[in-house]
Amino acid sequence: MPGAPGYTKAGSFPHQREGKNPRRKKVICMEFKTAISKMTDDDLIIHGKKHSEMVDSWGFPKTIFFLLSGKEPSEAEAAVFDAMLTTVIDHGMGVASALTSRFVMSTGNPLNAAVAGGVLCLGDYHGGSIEKAMKLYAEVKESGKTAAEFVKDAFANKKLLFGFGHKVYKDKDPRTSHLAEICKKNSYTSKYLTLALDMEKAIEAEKGKRLVLNVDGAIAALLLEMGFDPAMGKGFFIIGRTPSLVAQAVEEKAREKPVRRVSEDDIVYDGK
Ligand SMILES: CC(C)(COP(=O)(O)OP(=O)(O)OC[C@H]1O[C@@H](n2cnc3c(N)ncnc32)[C@H](O)[C@@H]1OP(=O)(O)O)[C@@H](O)C(=O)NCCC(=O)NCCS
Repeated sequence: MPGAPGYTKAGSFPHQREGKNPRRKKVICMEFKTAISKMTDDDLIIHGKKHSEMVDSWGFPKTIFFLLSGKEPSEAEAAVFDAMLTTVIDHGMGVASALTSRFVMSTGNPLNAAVAGGVLCLGDYHGGSIEKAMKLYAEVKESGKTAAEFVKDAFANKKLLFGFGHKVYKDKDPRTSHLAEICKKNSYTSKYLTLALDMEKAIEAEKGKRLVLNVDGAIAALLLEMGFDPAMGKGFFIIGRTPSLVAQAVEEKAREKPVRRVSEDDIVYDGK
């Protein structure tokens, strides 16, 4: 421990002891600073509050909110945040991340590798667009343009609008409408959700085709309203979707023979 007898301020490792080896350059120990949490003898302190009290009465979603933001959510925020996490928990076996977890598991890897494989699959087009959608809404607000003006310019510049469009849902994303209902039930209003819904209408008017406000886009609007840093956007989806990746990988191992592969009948060779 730095400061303890026999140790220099530089650190506690033997090679860092003062005078131990005069030919060795003095090492400046890395300092780790955090404002997130601290262990004590009988509890853990997270942003100044006792973790044991969170275990007693807060539950997982509220504690996640607090850990990520350092802010205690209002009742409405806690209810909407909980609903958002529950919404993204799974989206069937067919989505890329679930399939990847299954493929990795099927080739004889441990659970952590299979789950990590699924997490790596969360990219800009699957579960990973929350951060970019949060930045997009902030940009629209800062631009001072209306949703319609912004969308018009975006299409003129061939910009991809993160949070809009879906591979399967072409008319509406039911998860978005459900979240909007939950907001209403909890009297939770979000100027960013209103903006996102205005943009959805503006896109349809501009493109003559509907690109739904997808669940990432809706969540991005709500997270921005709650004051979260856009840098945490993808993290939110990782936290919400990981239980599914665990379930998919474990089921794969329990009921399938090792080594998945695509049937040759489903592969079209169009090379020479
Ligand atoms: C999700 C996504 C990959 C679906 O793609 P898709 O099934 O090919 O989309 P569609 O077939 O409905 O696209 C129709 C048209 O709209 C365009 N388009 C689709 N989503 C768009 C978006 N978000 N912004 C701008 N244009 C978009 C397509 O380029 C296509 O244009 P074209 O007809 O001129 O070629 C796509 O909508 C997208 O990239 N969205 C943004 C990323 C995102 O929010 N991902 C999270 C998904 S939950």
